[in-house]
Amino acid sequence: MGTGLGQLVSEITDSYTFPYGEIPNFPVSTVEGHAGKLIFGKLGGKDIMAMKGRFHFYEGYDMKEVTFPVRVMYELGIETLFVSNASGGMNSDFKIGDLMVINDHINFFPEHPLHGKNFPTGPRFPDMHEAYDRKLIAKADEIAKGKGIQLMHGVYMGVQGPTFETPAEYRMYRLMGADAVGMSTVPEVIVARHCGIKVFGISIITDLGGFDAPVEVSHEEVQKAANEAQPRMTEIMREMIRYS
Ligand code: HPA
Repeated sequence: MGTGLGQLVSEITDSYTFPYGEIPNFPVSTVEGHAGKLIFGKLGGKDIMAMKGRFHFYEGYDMKEVTFPVRVMYELGIETLFVSNASGGMNSDFKIGDLMVINDHINFFPEHPLHGKNFPTGPRFPDMHEAYDRKLIAKADEIAKGKGIQLMHGVYMGVQGPTFETPAEYRMYRLMGADAVGMSTVPEVIVARHCGIKVFGISIITDLGGFDAPVEVSHEEVQKAANEAQPRMTEIMREMIRYS
């Protein structure tokens, strides 16, 4: 339950919860406003497992810690991973508050989550030609159309942060082929794919960079835009879970 999905927690029924601190070897969240617990229950007619609070590389966790929860999910048998995040839009068709379905990503983190001895969940050199499931993307478009919700599509660039980008960095990432940039998601998606888990992701465009006049970005602004987009995000994700 990354940015924009907090509201969905209240729709989980038959739930039971484990604070991260009670789970052996599980990292514990540090960012303000990101409570840390694993929630098990039902949503959209499906058995689900939700992470309330995720681990970002910029907090100082290494990539093994950032992706540890995905390994736990795999061991517990999840089939599909639904991810969300906040990002800075660099595509001039985007506006603040837009939802961008992640069609693909660029891994621009300085450390790779699969660095080191290969885990037996997948091959040494995993294929990434369809990191984000095409069928799930098509389903999202259908659901959004039915609900009159606009969905944008694009490439998400994952960077380490914690600085937001300089105007020159936004322009560079745009030139490299990304539509949005953010500080999460890519490591978890890589590990999920290595485990054979299907992935669907949505990014909330919370600020814009790289075109027009440079504008200041703040965490508060990002949260405000995310809150505004939350009801649309909730609708799409709930129905996606129902379909999956
Ligand atoms: N850059 C990086 N991460 C972000 C941004 C951004 O502009 N907005 C929200 N998360």
